[in-house]
Amino acid sequence: MSNHDAGFHWWQTGVFYQIYPRSFQDSNGDGIGDLPGVLARLDYLKETLGVDAIWLSPFYPSPMADFGYDIADYCDVDPMFGDLAAFDRLVTEAHSRGIKVIVDYVPNHTSDRHAWFIESRASRDNPKRDWYIWRDPKPDGSPPNNWGGFFGGPAWTLDKATGQYYLHQFVPEQPELNWRNPEVVKAMLDVLRFWMARGVDGFRMDVVGLLIKDAELRDNPPNPNAPPDLPANDIFGRQLHTYNEDQEEVHDLIRQIRQTLDEHPETCGIGELWGDLSRWVKYYGENGDELQLPFNFRLMGQPWTAEAMRRSVDDLEAALPPFGWPNYVLGNHDQIRLATRFGGQPQARVAAMLLLTLRGTPTVYYGDELGLENGVIPPEKIQDPQGINLGAHRTRDVSRTPMQWENIPQAGFSSAEPWLPVSADYASRNVATQLADPGSMLNLYRRLLTTRRSMAALRRGSYQPVDTVPAGVFAYLRADAGERVLVALNFTGKPCRLSLPDLGQGRVVVATHLTRDGAVDLGDMTLDAHEGLVIAL
Ligand code: NOJ
Ligand code: CA
Repeated sequence: MSNHDAGFHWWQTGVFYQIYPRSFQDSNGDGIGDLPGVLARLDYLKETLGVDAIWLSPFYPSPMADFGYDIADYCDVDPMFGDLAAFDRLVTEAHSRGIKVIVDYVPNHTSDRHAWFIESRASRDNPKRDWYIWRDPKPDGSPPNNWGGFFGGPAWTLDKATGQYYLHQFVPEQPELNWRNPEVVKAMLDVLRFWMARGVDGFRMDVVGLLIKDAELRDNPPNPNAPPDLPANDIFGRQLHTYNEDQEEVHDLIRQIRQTLDEHPETCGIGELWGDLSRWVKYYGENGDELQLPFNFRLMGQPWTAEAMRRSVDDLEAALPPFGWPNYVLGNHDQIRLATRFGGQPQARVAAMLLLTLRGTPTVYYGDELGLENGVIPPEKIQDPQGINLGAHRTRDVSRTPMQWENIPQAGFSSAEPWLPVSADYASRNVATQLADPGSMLNLYRRLLTTRRSMAALRRGSYQPVDTVPAGVFAYLRADAGERVLVALNFTGKPCRLSLPDLGQGRVVVATHLTRDGAVDLGDMTLDAHEGLVIAL
C-alpha cells in the first residue's frame, strides 16, 4: 500500500474487491469463470477500477454441492478453474500491479469427497474417524441432538455402514471437521502455510464462529422470535444457536490461526462472523491477537434510513477496542444485490459513497460497481442448495450472475451459455457502456476510489458524526493531520437543506450524481434527493 501511510497496514488503507470466480470471466468457453479469466481482467481491476486487493471465493477441487464451499482438496485448484500454475501466475501478475491476493479458507467443513472424510467414514476404528464429528444415534434411532442445518433439514446424517451420524450444518456433502482433535488443527494450519508459501496475502475464513461446538453437543433451545412462516424443514431457523456458535473455546483456535498467519508478517485474517456486537468484537482478540478484520455485515441488515445507518456505524465505532480497525461490507455472494436491497440505483449510489468513505476497510462485491440488481433465475435454473431446499425466494443465485463486461452476447463473460443466466439489463449495464457514460455508476466508483487514494483523511482519518443535520441525512467528518472532509448523504427522495456555518466554505470533490463540483457554502446548501457529497474543507 501507499508508502505515505506509514504506521498503517495494507489491509487498513486498501479497498478489497470480492470475486466469485465462477461468475467473473470465463476463458475457455465452458460457461464457467476461471482463474485465467481473472488474470485477463487484472488491468480492469487495477487501472480502470483501482482496487488494492482481491478476495477469491473458493477455486479448490470440489464436487460443487455448495459451489466450492465443499472442498475435496485444500491444496489444489479444481480443473474447472485452472491449476496451481495458473494460480501462481495470477498471484505474480496481481503483485506486479500492486494488488494483494486474499483466498478463501473453509475450515469448518470439507467435502464428503475429501480423502480425510472417505477414510473417516470407512470404519469406526479408522485413524481419521475422530477427524469428523461422529455420534451414536439416540436409543430410538434419531439424531444425536436437535440441531438443524442452515440450508434446511437436520444437521446430522446417518452413515448406514458404520451405524453412526455425522454432523453437517450445511448440506450433507459438507461434513464438519473436529477441531478438538489436535491432528486436525495441525493439518488445517498447514493449509494456511501452503498458500502463504505461494504468496497469498490474506485469508477470508468461512464461518469461523462455528469451528468449536459445545463439548456435550447439547440441544439448542427454541427461538421464541422465529418468523411464523418458515418452511417446515427450516429447523435451524426455529432455534437459538446457543450451542453450535461462538463457543468460548473458539478463541484459542483463532489465536493459533493468527500465530500461523504471523509466520508471514502482514498476512491478514478476515473472519466471516455474524454474532451480535458483544460476541463479534471478541474475535479481534483481547490484545489484538486474533483476527485483523472480523467481517462487519451490519450495514446490510439496516433499513434504508440515515438514522439506522448512523446508529450502526456509531455502535460499531463505540464497541471497537483501541487496536480494532473497522470494516464494512454491503454485498457478497450470500446476500441479495445491494441495489435491490436498498431500493434502486439512486440509493445504490449513496450506498457506494457510504461504503467508500467510512473509517475502515471496504469490501466491494463484483458487479456492484455497475449497480447490478438481483438476477432473475427461472425456477428450473436454480443452482443454489439454499434455494432448492428452502424456496426460490431464498436462492443466492440472484447475486451470482455473470459479470457484465460488454454489450455482446453473454455480456462478454463467456462464449458459451453461462452456468447462470446473464441479467437482461446487460446491454446497457456493462463495463464498456458505463465507461463511456460520464455519469455512470462505474464512473462514480472510479471517482470515489481515486478520491480515497488521494485523501489521507478518507483512507485513515478519524470519524466524527455531525449532529446538526436534518432528519434523513447522515453526515460525518473525516480528518487526518491537516486534511478534513465532510461526507453528507441524503437518504430521502426529497431535497434537504444543510446549514453548517461553523464549517465555512468547502469544495465538492465527489457528488453521487456526478453533476456538480466546486465551491459550496456549508452555511447554506441543499442536497438533492438521493444525493451524497464528499466535500473537502
Ligand atoms: C458461508 C459462505 O459464504 C457460503 O457461501 C457457504 O454456503 C457457507 N459459508 C458454507 O460454507
Ligand atoms: Ca471456464
